[in-house]
Amino acid sequence: MSYNLLKGKRGIIFGALDENSIAWKTAEKVHEQGGTFVLTNAPVAMRMGAIKELAEKTGSEIIPADATNIEDLENLVEKAQEILGGKLDFVLHSIGMSINVRKGKHYTDQNYDWTAKGWDVSAVSFHKTMQTLYKKDAMNEWGSIVALTYMAAQRVFPDYNDMADNKAYLESIARSFGYFFGTEKKVRVNTISQSPTPTTAGQGVKGFDGFIKYADEMSALGNATADECADYTLTLFSDLTKKVTLQNLFHDGGFSNMGVSQKVMEKFVEE
Ligand SMILES: NC(=O)c1ccc[n+]([C@@H]2O[C@H](COP(=O)([O-])OP(=O)(O)OC[C@H]3O[C@@H](n4cnc5c(N)ncnc54)[C@H](O)[C@@H]3O)[C@@H](O)[C@H]2O)c1
Repeated sequence: MSYNLLKGKRGIIFGALDENSIAWKTAEKVHEQGGTFVLTNAPVAMRMGAIKELAEKTGSEIIPADATNIEDLENLVEKAQEILGGKLDFVLHSIGMSINVRKGKHYTDQNYDWTAKGWDVSAVSFHKTMQTLYKKDAMNEWGSIVALTYMAAQRVFPDYNDMADNKAYLESIARSFGYFFGTEKKVRVNTISQSPTPTTAGQGVKGFDGFIKYADEMSALGNATADECADYTLTLFSDLTKKVTLQNLFHDGGFSNMGVSQKVMEKFVEE
């Protein structure tokens, strides 16, 4: 349903890989709400081609950028403003990758070159993106920047591996940069801590099937879907949340405040 919540707003959406991606659903919904945007992803992800379908559907242009590369980010931020016709109102950082996870390297036996790469892609890229936007003065006042994160930043989920550390770093960057973006440019910066979601990145985590089912049965409202995450993101891009900043916002059906649920407890009660 369109409320024209984002009419006249311009932005950049990182991370739409395929139709399961949280960024993909967000792009569709931003379009529905009247927002215009440029889509971006790493050049290697582009080769898979699916993003073109999303671009056509939403009348958007695609600008490839490796989010760890400053030159790519500068080019992206400049071109996006040219294409969209002005400064930006929203940016979605929906990027995550760990080579240790991908290659099944245990947390206690990391390859530190891979650790550094995953940290750069999953966490520092958020700083690089914001620093580029900040230096180029590319955000409109009362604009909104959102990155996606996971609760392993606060609590132990053993198979989440080094992504847990990357997410903790990402959330800290949101607060630290959010302070400067707020005081200097009246721009808000938040992270959304999303439920486990069946996407390419999500399903790469070992034991994902058990993990997602457990979270679903533990949550008061069940897991939040990618579609619902997109809806929540829209509210943060809209003018209805102008004073929400420096927050890590749990979007998880209540999971983060649960101790135990009846459904989970029943599995441990002996007949
Ligand atoms: N799926 C889940 O269970 C879950 C839960 C909480 C948070 N998240 C977070 O949501 C975000 C989006 O992930 P998703 O679940 O939609 O999976 P996804 O695999 O669809 O998206 C991840 C994206 O990161 C992009 N990417 C990787 N390296 C990049 C680089 N160097 N430069 C630019 N882009 C790059 C990929 O191409 C891909 O589009 C990630 O930050 C992820 O950690 C996911």
